[in-house]
This record gives sequence, structure tokens and C-alpha cells, in this order.
Amino acid sequence: MKTRVLGKTGARVSEVGLGTWQLGGADWGALSDDDALRILHRSADLGVNLYDTADVYGSGRSESILSRFLKEKRGGACIATKLGRRGDAPYGWPQNFTLDFARRQTQESMRRLGVNSIFLQQWHCIPTDQLRRGEVFDHLRTLKKEGLIQHWGVSVESVEEGLLCMAQDDCATLQVIYNIFRQKLTTELIPQAKAKNVGILARVPLASGLLAGAFKPGHRFDAKDHRHYNADGKAFNVGETFAGVPFEKGVEIAEQVRQIFQADQAGHSHGGATMAQMSLRWVLDDAGVSSVIPGASRVAQAESNASASLLPPLSAEAHRWLRDLYESRIKPAIRGPY
Ligand SMILES: NC(=O)c1ccc[n+]([C@@H]2O[C@H](COP(=O)([O-])OP(=O)(O)OC[C@H]3O[C@@H](n4cnc5c(N)ncnc54)[C@H](OP(=O)(O)O)[C@@H]3O)[C@@H](O)[C@H]2O)c1
Repeated sequence: MKTRVLGKTGARVSEVGLGTWQLGGADWGALSDDDALRILHRSADLGVNLYDTADVYGSGRSESILSRFLKEKRGGACIATKLGRRGDAPYGWPQNFTLDFARRQTQESMRRLGVNSIFLQQWHCIPTDQLRRGEVFDHLRTLKKEGLIQHWGVSVESVEEGLLCMAQDDCATLQVIYNIFRQKLTTELIPQAKAKNVGILARVPLASGLLAGAFKPGHRFDAKDHRHYNADGKAFNVGETFAGVPFEKGVEIAEQVRQIFQADQAGHSHGGATMAQMSLRWVLDDAGVSSVIPGASRVAQAESNASASLLPPLSAEAHRWLRDLYESRIKPAIRGPY
């Protein structure tokens, strides 16, 4: 596993991290504690040292499982969590964005994670207006002074939000939706982040599985899976599900992506790489990305994803073909703030 520096945190993190939304056991279907722990331990064995979670994933379950993992493993991992999206009383918008509630949410995450301070605390896709007003950044600065967190960053939905956060000189990281379906960031955000030494965590890199070639037209998801109930953005930002591309269109375009990968494999040295690995490789080929954080619902997926770090880059032609595909077919299909 290769490592990269995570922006202003200065930490060396695995260039493939692990997203742990799946470990909450909600929004993606059920997952047992044992299976979740197996995914975490196998990832660590393969050199993953960066884990992204949030207080709301499975209402705290993802963080609690990470705490068990950290105890079993005896530390040595960078945990990035998030705050700001709780809706259970007394939490909720807009009080989630006050200093008092930011502190309470952070302390609860610390308790669940079993840590004395959080490596990276991120605002979790909060309203653009809150980012414009700016007090929310001061709250994280205060929590850092108080020793509750070591670094702070923001998970954002759009380029506009990313630029607002980067205007804060001490913003250490940005978490963004970045994959073959979302190439706007390649020129409009990531070079700017690199210039300001802001770490980039690339989420939803497989477009919720579409860019792993996992689905055929007509696929039906479980009613509790966000790919069923948020496919058109009815519950939260549509971009978080299939990167905002309508499912059937996404399956069709993913097939074209597969053909580009096959052509690339024929001429270069990616023989045997899976579509998921090639899609992750596309993200890693951008030197402005600090770590790509695919989610995994099975150990085999986590294993395969971690090994994308060892693949050679895609060819320049493949990058060009994928850019052309984005401009002609993908860009017009994306929905939601971007
Ligand atoms: N607002 C935010 O800040 C936000 C929003 C979304 C995500 N995130 C973070 O980003 C992480 C990654 O995003 P994501 O999980 O939404 O999307 P993703 O990484 O694009 O997709 C993950 C899904 O793709 C499938 N998959 C993964 N590896 C595979 C492989 N090797 N072969 C075939 N299929 C594979 C699995 O689907 P199955 O479950 O069907 O097996 C898995 O659940 C999350 O876990 C979370 O930590 C943050």
C-alpha cells in the first residue's frame, strides 16, 4: 500500500482508505458486527490506515465498531469522523451548528470511538449558508484548542462549497464526491486544493457500485438501501447515490467505461484488474487526491479495493477517452448540486 500526505494534517495515510458508512448496518442493508470487524482487520492487514465514518452512520454503530477494531488492533489508525447531521432530540438543524452542539456531538463521537481526541473532525454536508457565515469554522478551531480534535475539515457537495472552505487557511482536508462520473473537480477544485495543501478525501469513488460494473438494467435494491430510497434524491442529496446519475443511465454508461478499460488493458499492463480497481485507479491517478475511500460490504471487496494502490496508472489515452465520455454522455446526466 502506498501512502500520501493528508493535506495540513501532515499525516501519512494509505492512498486507499476505507469508507465505513456500510458498517452502520443501515442505508446499505444489514451487516453483522463480525463481518464489519473482518472488513476492518483485513483492510488494516493490507496497509489501510485511514477510516472514514460519521456519527450518523447506523446512529453511531459504525463508530462503535471502529472502537472495537481500534482496541483489538491496539491503535495505529487515523479515524476521520463527521458531525452536523443528527436529527434526534435535542439535536437537529439549526442547533447542530452552534458551538455547544458541535462540542456535544464531538464528545459523543469520542465516547463511541473510545478515543481522547479525534484525529479528523469534518462538518458533514451542512447547508452552504452555514459555510458562508463562517462561525462553524470557528467552532472547530475552538474544539481543536480544547484538545477534542486534532485537525478539522469539511465534507462538501459542490465546488462552490469546497472553495468556501478552502478560503479558511487552516482547513486541513476536504471530502468530495470524486469519480469517473464527477470530473468537474479535476480542473475546478483539486488543483486549487493541492496549491493550498488541503487534503482531498475522494468519496463515492465507485458511484455506489455502478463503477464496479456490479449491476444490470432492472436491478432492484432492498427498500432499506439508499440505492432504492434515495435513487432520485428523495432522502438526501442525490449526488450521494450513484453520484447523481439516474440508475439505468448509469448502468449503460458504466458499460462504456468497461469497454474503455478493456481497450486499455489490451494495450497496457493492467491484465486481470477488475473494473472496480480500474475505477479507483482513475481517482488515484490524480496526484491532488490524498486518499480514495471506497466503502465495502464484504471482505473480498475491501481486499480488491486496497490493491488498486499497486496498479500502474491508466494510460493517457484511457484518461482522454474517459474525459470525452464524461463531456458527451455523463455531464448532461448528473443531477444535484455539484
Ligand atoms: N456526505 C458524506 O460525507 C458522505 C456521503 C457518502 C459517502 N461517504 C463516505 O464515503 C465512503 C465511500 O462512498 P460510498 O460507500 O457511498 O460509495 P462507493 O465507495 O462508491 O460504493 C461502495 C459500494 O460499492 C460496492 N463495491 C465496493 N467495492 C467493490 C468491489 N471491489 N467490487 C464490486 N462492488 C464493490 C459495494 O456495494 P454493495 O454494498 O452492493 O456490495 C459498496 O457498498 C462511505 O463509506 C463513507 O465513508 C461520505
